[in-house]
Amino acid sequence: MPRVIYIEHDGTRHEVDVPVGENVMRGALYNDLPGIVGECGGACSCATCHCYVDAAWADKVLPPISETERELLEGAAAAVRPESRLSCQIAVSPELDGLIVHLPEHQF
Ligand code: FES
Repeated sequence: MPRVIYIEHDGTRHEVDVPVGENVMRGALYNDLPGIVGECGGACSCATCHCYVDAAWADKVLPPISETERELLEGAAAAVRPESRLSCQIAVSPELDGLIVHLPEHQF
């Protein structure tokens, strides 16, 4: 099972195994990690699952950002950066074993 590494705003690191076919948002919720809310349940309509994909993983994360996701990110509570993604839109695959995502300070 791929391991995803979530790093909170204060540097606290969490390594969790997330099943293939799940998304990065659900991996956080299933493990009660702080920093990701996922209010809409992954419907790409809330932006409370905002994360920053680590630079080393930027080109490996699939699917690529969609126009809908990009527009929704504009409403994210924390600063939006080039590496910003909605974690519910990142599909966990074997290729993402070791993926690192950084969590924003807040989601509201
Ligand atoms: S959980 Fe709502 S946009 Fe990702």
